[in-house]
Amino acid sequence: MFKTRITELFNIEYPIVSAGMGGVALAELAGAVSEAGGLGTIALAGLHPEAIQAEIAAARRITKKPLAVNLLVPFLRPGIVETLLNEPIQAITFFWGDPAEHIPPVKKAGMKVIWQCGSVAEAVTAKDAGADVIMVQGVEAGGHVRGTTTTLALVPAARDALGPNVPLLSSGGFADGRGLAAALALGADGAVFGTRFLASRESAAHAIYKQRVIDAEAEETIHTELFDIGWPHAPHRVIRTKLVEEWERAGRPQSGQRPGEGEAIGSYKGTGPEVPLVKYSVMTPTDYIEGDVEQLPFYAGMSVNLVNDVMPAAGIVQQIAREAREVISARLASIINNTEHGPQSE
Ligand SMILES: Cc1cc2nc3c(=O)[nH]c(=O)nc-3n(C[C@H](O)[C@H](O)[C@H](O)COP(=O)(O)O)c2cc1C
Repeated sequence: MFKTRITELFNIEYPIVSAGMGGVALAELAGAVSEAGGLGTIALAGLHPEAIQAEIAAARRITKKPLAVNLLVPFLRPGIVETLLNEPIQAITFFWGDPAEHIPPVKKAGMKVIWQCGSVAEAVTAKDAGADVIMVQGVEAGGHVRGTTTTLALVPAARDALGPNVPLLSSGGFADGRGLAAALALGADGAVFGTRFLASRESAAHAIYKQRVIDAEAEETIHTELFDIGWPHAPHRVIRTKLVEEWERAGRPQSGQRPGEGEAIGSYKGTGPEVPLVKYSVMTPTDYIEGDVEQLPFYAGMSVNLVNDVMPAAGIVQQIAREAREVISARLASIINNTEHGPQSE
């Protein structure tokens, strides 16, 4: 039904990729997306090696189809990539920094390297370093945002710079089949969906956070460096919560001088040791948090406008695929058919 460089490279049905989302996109979500014909990604941020292996094994109980995992370069501990080389996964997505040293061993192990980039320059660096797939992220994206350019401007420019044959994924701002069709029109071979899958049944996002994603409008998201405890100087897009408003009312003071700075708000009780959390922590509000989740970053992209319900991940994949097919084969095709009989052909 869909044939792009991405569907061919991974031998999957749809050019639909679920984003690596720290704490949120775990085995259940990634497994469901892959099983439904997309490429599911397990986010490994913050997981120790045993938890990584357990998460991949759990996803493998859900699906035998291709799976990706996601690593944040600044938090990459020695031995993690080596651990992954023996795991039953097909790709590793790297974000936020230069993973070039890991590319040869990952490729040698028969896996694909996906490098999420924030600019055309970074995309070219990734291609030159040998990445198999370049993923470009627009500034409308949710979570940590690497670049400053909109997806609309970035994707075609990246395609021009990379040449016609490099597998290219586009992330940031996509939530439905119209978005997938647009990504393909811009020159990408598939689209990455983060915020849309955040509000899926299988995502580990806390229920209060999911509800806020459903209720929020794009205008309520803010691009900021506010949630910097644990990851300073890294811009991100979040929904404007009470904490954000409190900081804005205080005149947007700098880190170290913000209202309630250092106040304890709860703890993370996932795998491994319990981690105490303070205000302005980088930690995503998930099912594994105990405490006041509304003090944590509600990461979400501008596509919150288009996310109005919590759906099973497989339903999201099918709906996006169906809509994209309708847009391409009916609506867009009919525009061309009409004009062929119009003034241009006379
Ligand atoms: C809650 C959340 C957590 C994220 N965590 C990560 C992460 O751990 N690693 C990563 O590469 N990208 C992360 N991202 C960014 C996504 O990879 C992707 O660029 C983004 O979700 C695309 O934009 P969209 O949300 O508009 O779909 C995160 C995004 C969200 C919404």
